[in-house]
Amino acid sequence: MVEKIPRHVAIILDGNGRWAKQRGLPRMFGHRRGAQTLVKSIRFIRESGVKYLSLFCFSTENWQRPAEEVQGLMGIFASHIRRLVKEAVKSNTRVHWLGRPDGLPATVVEQLINLVRKTSENDQFHLALAINYSGRDEIIRSVGRLAASPCNFDWRNLQWEDLVKCMDTVNLPDVDLLIRTSGECRLSNFMLLQSAYAELFFTSVLWPDFSQAIFHDALQFYEGRERRFGTIGQ
Ligand code: IPE
Ligand code: MG
Repeated sequence: MVEKIPRHVAIILDGNGRWAKQRGLPRMFGHRRGAQTLVKSIRFIRESGVKYLSLFCFSTENWQRPAEEVQGLMGIFASHIRRLVKEAVKSNTRVHWLGRPDGLPATVVEQLINLVRKTSENDQFHLALAINYSGRDEIIRSVGRLAASPCNFDWRNLQWEDLVKCMDTVNLPDVDLLIRTSGECRLSNFMLLQSAYAELFFTSVLWPDFSQAIFHDALQFYEGRERRFGTIGQ
């Protein structure tokens, strides 16, 4: 039994392409299997007591992939977001979208906006989908919003809280535990500021093979950490 459950878990889902390659299959097979893993993972993470889950689904850098792969991914998003509406309503989940609309198919943007709107009163669980997101891009857009907002802050004495109010993650607390699959040990531009004090868990398992057992390993790792936030601790 794990007793210390992180409030906010963020996941960099990685390794779909390698999973397919290992089996001699086209990369899209890995993405489709990865999407199935995601649906299951959202459920068991929600049931673990975690309150906020952020998922890095598509980065602003992923547009540089072959057009066919990008198109395939957009198709997966469209069908899964449609399905997610029902589940989110049933499980009292509030969905948040992190990222910019530019470049995304209009249907995906409409579905995301609709999903966010429809679930805005829910509060049992929070699911943040990072689609067309990167940390630096978010910072730039947030500063733009700050500059355009009514001046009830002082630029010469700018507070962290002033910027937070303009970020995509305005309604989310800081990340407590960040998980990355596939053996890569880097953040790749995901929630850079929100992960300032996150505990980082890296596993060599490829995303389509992510399971409740591996999530449990991550929770145990988290439980064993002493978080000091810059102090000398207790
Ligand atoms: C992650 O898997 C899925 C997305 C970025 C959408 P990758 O597609 O990055 O898989 P690898 O890294 O090529 O194995
Ligand atoms: Mg990758």
